[in-house]
Amino acid sequence: MASSTSLLFSVFTVFSILFLASSSEDNIPATITIPLTSTFTSKLSTEPLVFLQHLASASLSRAHHLKHGKTSPLVKTSLFPHSYGGHTIPLSFGTPPQKLSFVVDTGSHVVWTPCTTHYTCTNCSFSDAAPKKAPIFNPELSSSSKILGCRNPKCVNTSSPDVHLGCPRCNGNSKNCSHACPRYRLHYGRGASSGYFLLENLNFPAKTIHKFLVGCTKSAARLPTSVAFAGFGRTMFSLPMQMGVKKFAYCLNSHDYDDTRNSGKLVLDYSDGKTKGLSYTPFLKNPPDFPFYYYLGVKDIKMGNKRLRIPSKYLAPGSDGRGGLMIDSGFAYGYMTGPVFKIVTNELKKQMSKYRRSLEAETQSGLTPCFNFTGHKSLEIPDLIYQFRGGANMVVPGMNYLLMARLETSIVACFPMVTDAGNNTMEFTPGPSIFLGNSQHVDYYVEFDLKNERLGFRRQTC
Ligand SMILES: *[C@@H]1O[C@H](CO)[C@@H](O)[C@H](O)[C@H]1NC(C)=O
Ligand SMILES: *[C@@H]1O[C@H](CO)[C@@H](O)[C@H](O)[C@H]1NC(C)=O
Ligand SMILES: *[C@@H]1O[C@H](CO)[C@@H](O)[C@H](O)[C@H]1NC(C)=O
Ligand SMILES: *[C@@H]1O[C@H](CO)[C@@H](O)[C@H](O)[C@H]1NC(C)=O
Ligand SMILES: *[C@@H]1O[C@H](CO)[C@@H](O)[C@H](O)[C@H]1NC(C)=O
Repeated sequence: MASSTSLLFSVFTVFSILFLASSSEDNIPATITIPLTSTFTSKLSTEPLVFLQHLASASLSRAHHLKHGKTSPLVKTSLFPHSYGGHTIPLSFGTPPQKLSFVVDTGSHVVWTPCTTHYTCTNCSFSDAAPKKAPIFNPELSSSSKILGCRNPKCVNTSSPDVHLGCPRCNGNSKNCSHACPRYRLHYGRGASSGYFLLENLNFPAKTIHKFLVGCTKSAARLPTSVAFAGFGRTMFSLPMQMGVKKFAYCLNSHDYDDTRNSGKLVLDYSDGKTKGLSYTPFLKNPPDFPFYYYLGVKDIKMGNKRLRIPSKYLAPGSDGRGGLMIDSGFAYGYMTGPVFKIVTNELKKQMSKYRRSLEAETQSGLTPCFNFTGHKSLEIPDLIYQFRGGANMVVPGMNYLLMARLETSIVACFPMVTDAGNNTMEFTPGPSIFLGNSQHVDYYVEFDLKNERLGFRRQTC
């Protein structure tokens, strides 16, 4: 139970998170530290329902993007029209270092940034969500910048089999093959971007990673250009994999209570072993078409005390890529496939029946259900509980899975998860059935243990 006022200002507040520094040992730092900032902007607070509407469409774009996985030639990295609720970290590339801002994205597999020179972008600005400063990397100002060449084996691995990239004239390791690895082309919905891969120095205060593979996007259309992306996915070119860390962890703090309590921590960790106090659940084997997501084994979901008995086919990924729950750090909210969404929201409506539904908010935002809390002094919202394999439960309080908005004369809260639109709501669509967005693990310390292939977490004030 929480007082309504404490919930209200939370949603649109800018908050930031600090990666905490740790000591080094034998020149190799055990952990590496970076400050982290939310991509929410305060501008969003002016028109709550417009914000909710943008959020709904952004969530759908994100869902469509993530559900395409690897099979679609449209997807090679994470590009979505808005980055509501992502978290950015500054990374320094090049010599001398150029500091740029990157969205931390566990649903994405490479690191890339808009790149000068001659960078062109058509219809790329999204004024409503764009952070003020665009990160643009200029390789011409860096003495350590090298274009990835065709002879480099990494070129083969970066080439997507479905886009017919590769170095045709270099087959058989021809010594004559001096040209650059072909440009990558990324598509997202109506947008597109293209560029080439660089091998660059990635600089941290106590460590430099040489020949880090980073995408240099040269041209784009209808894409958000103001943020670069740091893929934290399970495959070889993600940031943690290239750095060779054994685990990474973050703690997103609750922005619901206190604007001044704005620090948490994220750690890139070279040490192995169990972290004290964490409950662990194993990562599941990835279906071939979705190699870079972190799938978690969920046994069931509870709404308050009620077990929802979600059919198991939705809870674990099949070899055809259907089903499963993925943890998505790159986006605040989430997605549930039609049948799961229906079970969850039906139970939510039942348990929230003492509050009026706000059809007005639902119509305007496109989210459902929305509740009207006007006149209620205190709120009782059931917890959403994920029961993971291995016995670990993640308890998400109402304030972390509902989205509150204060309108002129009323206070509403919407369930911000989206589902497949249109008539296909009962179809078992390809791709994960559930995305666990980062708002649902606020006030949790979350550790991605890559070495031991498991997720560890504990409730914590971040
Ligand atoms: C850019 O947007 C304008 C206005 O929406 C449109 O007329 C134009 O065709 C767009 N250009 C491209 C290259 O998409
Ligand atoms: C990278 O490419 C090489 C050559 O095709 C292949 O043998 C290797 O398995 C690939 N590595 C990964 C992680 O895909
Ligand atoms: C080597 O490259 C040069 C210049 O691109 C080209 O003229 C020549 O035919 C190439 N030789 C082979 C064996 O591919
Ligand atoms: C919420 O309820 C109040 C009181 O009944 C009403 O005046 C207001 O229009 C409602 N707002 C929304 C968005 O449903
Ligand atoms: C949904 O169903 C209605 C009625 O059957 C139909 O008119 C409409 O075209 C359908 N929409 C989609 C997106 O299939």
